Amino acid sequence: MTDPDDRTTPSLSPEAIELEKKVAAEAAAGLVESGMTVGLGTGSTVAYLLPALAARNLSLRCVATSPRTEDAARAVGLVVEPFDTIDRFDMTIDGADQISPEGWLVKGGGAAHTREKIVAVSADRFVVIADSTKTVPSIVPPIPLELLAYGLASTLRRLGPVTLRPVPASPDGGIIADYVGPAGPPEDLARLFETTPGVVAHGLFPPSMVSIALVARGASVESLTF
Ligand code: 5RP
Repeated sequence: MTDPDDRTTPSLSPEAIELEKKVAAEAAAGLVESGMTVGLGTGSTVAYLLPALAARNLSLRCVATSPRTEDAARAVGLVVEPFDTIDRFDMTIDGADQISPEGWLVKGGGAAHTREKIVAVSADRFVVIADSTKTVPSIVPPIPLELLAYGLASTLRRLGPVTLRPVPASPDGGIIADYVGPAGPPEDLARLFETTPGVVAHGLFPPSMVSIALVARGASVESLTF
């Protein structure tokens, strides 16, 4: 029997997932108003946001969370500024790897979680966009980490099971890794990471950071608040 509260999606074709990403991204683009400062996340869902936002021809000041997003945003005509003089955003829009029923997120599948977290907390409204496969019954590892290169072996020993991701360092020089130890309450894992010197940032975003999650299910969009 199907549990009506079960928000997980057992299986979706790759085409259906892409369509949901586009639907969620377009819904978020519709929330943006002329004159806004906008933080742009990173990832394949955000890739659908950028043309949708550009198509609205609004007067916007944008900041990107990665070189990838910066290049893609400029390519569609969005004005992207460095994150030095802008000190807050009206809205930040970004994807997620996992969204729990309580509103915890896992981010960092694209290794941009450090910048993404700074841009998310700098926004009056942090809008998450996702296809329905991202909703999960509970947060599970891997949890992305960014680590200082200095003292790396010691940091790894203190964190427990962590795998180094075979990707380049972050634009800020951090080592990208994933915590693969036991699952636990996200707040406990977040505390472990935040109290371990050598951890620059982790991919757990608390519900208090999220204004709304726009999750596409087929052609419709569910608005989740936590
Ligand atoms: C990048 C991220 C992305 O937002 C997250 O990985 C979701 O990506 P996608 O939209 O490609 O599924 O956190 O660091």
